[in-house]
Amino acid sequence: MKTETLAVAPDRPDAEPIARAAAVLRAGGLVAFPTETVYGLGANALDAGAVAGIFAAKGRPAHNPLIVHVADTASVFSVVASWPETAARLAGRFWPGPLTLVLPKRPAVPDAVTGGGPTVAVRVPAHPAALALLRAAGVPVAAPSANRSGGISPTRAEHVLLGLDGRIDMILDAGPVPGGLESTVLDLTTSPPRLLRPGLLSPREIEKVIGLVTRGSRPVAEAEVVLPSPGMLSRHYAPRTPLECAEGDGRACVEELLRSGLRVAWLTFGPADLRDVVMVPMPRDPAGYAARLYAALHELDAAGVDRIVAALPPPADEWLAARDRLRRAAAP
Ligand code: TXA
Ligand code: MG
Repeated sequence: MKTETLAVAPDRPDAEPIARAAAVLRAGGLVAFPTETVYGLGANALDAGAVAGIFAAKGRPAHNPLIVHVADTASVFSVVASWPETAARLAGRFWPGPLTLVLPKRPAVPDAVTGGGPTVAVRVPAHPAALALLRAAGVPVAAPSANRSGGISPTRAEHVLLGLDGRIDMILDAGPVPGGLESTVLDLTTSPPRLLRPGLLSPREIEKVIGLVTRGSRPVAEAEVVLPSPGMLSRHYAPRTPLECAEGDGRACVEELLRSGLRVAWLTFGPADLRDVVMVPMPRDPAGYAARLYAALHELDAAGVDRIVAALPPPADEWLAARDRLRRAAAP
């Protein structure tokens, strides 16, 4: 199939491309679209055939469930069967925005969306083009990140094309997205609520609204300190080039690889002063870092090196998502 790219203004998207993309979704097609976190690959969440298309295009394992995107809080009732007080408080505070809530699903939601399970993940995205598309489509839209399964998530339309050109119907191109890391996924079917995936919204912000949130069985603040061994993390968000993470600045690791004759790229916070190394200096603030990370990994992957060394940001709440993605990118 030919993939059509339609440009839209990121702040005030034009009605014409939005209407065309919405028509593709209603007809059961696949449309990649910008959200404030990363580009998503959308299909009508209530159409099992359309949702099957997402899994085929991405090469995604069937057991991995999808996030459903809706235009506003009132629209969650097309997919969720209950709406606890905690959900109402979180939605009131953080939607539209990068928080995904896992709740009991309605029977109408196909098994393909939920991995066959009894719950569904839902969020209202904050990007104007995403909201315009959801309103025009008038259906809930299931959308994973618009990359081939396991690869680096897309923060630009060019990244989407790298993996999915010819495999999807359409891309709405609104330029680089502002956030850069995926939404935070929170399970509200357990008590206390459980963090399933760290993301742009930090657990501390969530805890200010609903109190304690756990990760596994531990409070989130401790869970980050007690690291599972890297081998236990499933590989994901990964460039094709092997990547190693280093606590601290990573310089010793880079120098050792250079001595063994490898070509090395270095994702670093420090001054770029090592010869014969492809350097990508990263912003020191979490929001700037998040916005830049996936594009940097795409660039490093294209640089033709043997190894990428990434200096891990410090183990603190506001860096939880960036550390999680880098460690998964490094997992064997
Ligand atoms: O920022 C984002 O969340 C982006 C944009 C496009 O919205 N989407 C995204 O989707 O990152 P994806 O499919 O790449 O990641 C979805 C995550 C996975 O970790 C999946 O296991 C989890 O959400 N998830 C989805 N439904 C779930 C459910 N019912 N129970 C538990 N986890 C669920
Ligand atoms: Mg993804």
